[in-house]
Amino acid sequence: MGGLRERSTVLLAIVVLMGCASSAVPRGPLASTGGSNGVYSAAQAQRGREAFTEVCRECHSSSEFRGRDFEFTWRRRTAWDLYRELRRTMPEDFPGALAPQTYVDVIAYVLEINDYAPGGVELVPDEESLRRVPLGPGANKGG
Ligand code: HEC
Repeated sequence: MGGLRERSTVLLAIVVLMGCASSAVPRGPLASTGGSNGVYSAAQAQRGREAFTEVCRECHSSSEFRGRDFEFTWRRRTAWDLYRELRRTMPEDFPGALAPQTYVDVIAYVLEINDYAPGGVELVPDEESLRRVPLGPGANKGG
């Protein structure tokens, strides 16, 4: 475990890097189609919220998966990485215990609390489609 000071230095470096990166990021196809907005439905996020409350809240608070902390951890990764990690490691006392659909429902809830807009489709537990959902800063901003 790194010390608090070490950790803040790393975070500061990330903030600085992000500041530079965000102005230089080219507007790719995802940006022009609205980032990662519209990739889950409101009903799915609601199911995810229920699963989160039932399973994850025993050890986590939803604020751990929201905002800057979430962005710092997942900024270069996609929903597929989060899905894979959740299935491999969570719930910590019983990894992989949930249905694949429940894991993506929880991810829909995480997208919702990170201000991604809901849409008319649902996230499905499929590598190809989850790889198309970036989680980094700005992916929720649309374009
Ligand atoms: C029994 C307790 C427990 C439950 C239940 C649990 N977790 Fe965890 N979770 C942990 C612990 C402890 C860690 C830290 C593990 C580590 O860093 O090695 C962790 C780490 C994580 C991480 C990694 C955090 C990061 O910043 O990298 C994520 C994401 C996560 N949990 C999500 C979930 C979700 C979603 C659920 C519900 C499906 C869940 N957890 C259920 C105990 C739990």
